[in-house]
Amino acid sequence: VVSTALVVAVDGPSGSGKSSVSRAAAAALGVAFLDTGAMYRAVTWAVLEAGVDLSDAEAVAAHVRTVPLVVGTDPQAPTVAAVVEGAEVDLTEAVRTARVTANVSAVAAVPAVRQDLVLRQRTLIEAACVAPEPGREPGIVAEGRDITTVVAPDADVRVLLTAEESVRLARRAQQDLGTADSEALAATRRGIVERDRVDSRTTAFTTAADGVVTVDSTALDFDGTVAAVLDVVERRVRAG
Ligand code: DC
Repeated sequence: VVSTALVVAVDGPSGSGKSSVSRAAAAALGVAFLDTGAMYRAVTWAVLEAGVDLSDAEAVAAHVRTVPLVVGTDPQAPTVAAVVEGAEVDLTEAVRTARVTANVSAVAAVPAVRQDLVLRQRTLIEAACVAPEPGREPGIVAEGRDITTVVAPDADVRVLLTAEESVRLARRAQQDLGTADSEALAATRRGIVERDRVDSRTTAFTTAADGVVTVDSTALDFDGTVAAVLDVVERRVRAG
C-alpha cells in the first residue's frame, strides 16, 4: 500500500449502520468503498445456486474458489457480481434475499472460504490504493467483521462501530420493514440477534482489538455517526 493512500477499516455488528456510514464516509473522503459482507453473500448465492451441500465444508470451499467475483467499489453505487459459466451475473439485489441471509453464516464459517475471500479483499484494497478509479483519491473504506483484525490490521484508521442492541434492532426494523413496532422488532430480532450470535463464533466484532477506536452510535443520528467516523480519520491522519 503506497503511503499517500488512505485505508479505513470498519467492523461492527448487524444494525450498527456500518454499511451506510462507511459508504457515506468513503464518499466524503473521495475514496472507494468495500462491503465485504456482500462478498460472503455473493459466494453463498453461488453455492446455493450450484446445489452444493452446505454441510460439506470442503465442497463449499472448493466451489467458492471457482467463482470469480466482480466487485464495484463506487461508494455511490456499490455492486457485486459473480461469473457463472463465463457470464457475469449481477447479484447486487440477489445477495439481500432471505435465502442468502439465512445461509451466509454457515458459508462464512468455513475457514478455507475465509482465507480465499480475505485474499480477494486485500487485492481489492490494494487496487483502490495503487490504481484508484478516475476521479477518486487513492484509498478505501472497507467494512465487515474482521477488517480491523484480519483483512487490514495495518489500516491507517481502524474503527469498531457499535450501538446498543435495542437501537440496532429498531434501525434495522425501520430499514427492512419500514416500521419499528413490536411485531417488526420481534421479526428483526430473530434475523439479526441470532445471526450475530452465530457469526460471533467465527469473527470477533463485538469488542475492539488493540488500537481500534470504538464509535458508539447509540445516541447519534446517521449524520452524527458519519461525522464521528470522519473525526477519527481526521485525528488519526493528523497524528500521522
Ligand atoms: O454485513 P452483512 O450482514 O452483509 O454480512 C453477511 C454475513 O457475512 C454475516 O452474517 C457475517 C459474514 N461476514 C463475515 O464473516 N466477515 C466479514 N468480513 C463480513 C461479513
